[in-house]
Amino acid sequence: MRAILIGPPGAGKGTQAKVICERYGIPQISTGDMLRAHKAKGTELGLKAAEFMSKGLLVPDQVVIDMVEERLKQPDAQKGYLFDGFPRTVAQAESLDGSLSRLGTKLDGVVLIEVADDLLVERVCGRRTDRRSGQIFHLKYNPPPPDADLEQRADDREETVRDRLRVYHDQTAPLIPYYEGRGLLRRVDGVGELAAVTERVLNALSRE
Ligand code: AP5
Repeated sequence: MRAILIGPPGAGKGTQAKVICERYGIPQISTGDMLRAHKAKGTELGLKAAEFMSKGLLVPDQVVIDMVEERLKQPDAQKGYLFDGFPRTVAQAESLDGSLSRLGTKLDGVVLIEVADDLLVERVCGRRTDRRSGQIFHLKYNPPPPDADLEQRADDREETVRDRLRVYHDQTAPLIPYYEGRGLLRRVDGVGELAAVTERVLNALSRE
């Protein structure tokens, strides 16, 4: 399977991608996680990206496109993958189309996880991640176990979340008509129990 999860910050892309990738045995390609890993290692790319991420802005297209092209060459990505948070602009989507056609492959589907803006701020501000496992929790909706080693993302402050939402509506939402026009888009309601949303995403991905 070669597929994309799109949706606003806090829609549940990362949460659902982890479960679905385990189920299908394919890698999750999260550009946000890749950029945060670069930042943690202190690479030049990571330090440059952090300047944009801390303000809730998108990292320049070419930086992300080059990073994804490298990732797609890795052996584990040859049989499929699930993108989470990429593409995020029409320029990134066009570049991905070019890469896929050079590789002689194509996308099976694009799932849009829909959640209203007013719920997203609470979701993102309550998010905590376990440093050891990378597992995503929520203080209210998916409470972590007592022994979890929790951290909060640097860009999960309320003010930055609102900026990220504005960026989503301006720069990422145009992907909805882009993929709708190619017959690839499937919409899924992202509100409800985690397992119920997983079922909706799996059903959407298995739809022709
Ligand atoms: P990225 O890491 O991709 O963040 P995002 O897209 O803003 O999405 P989030 O990770 O915030 O949310 P999510 O949808 O994964 O939700 P989650 O599952 O965690 O990007 C970060 C930054 O990196 C960007 O701002 C940009 O600067 C840069 N970047 C990344 N990719 C880029 C690209 N391609 N181009 C340019 N720049 C790029 O869930 C959120 C919370 O809700 C959790 O606490 C979870 O437990 C909870 N939750 C999940 N589902 C439910 C549910 N059904 N009910 C209740 N709570 C739920």
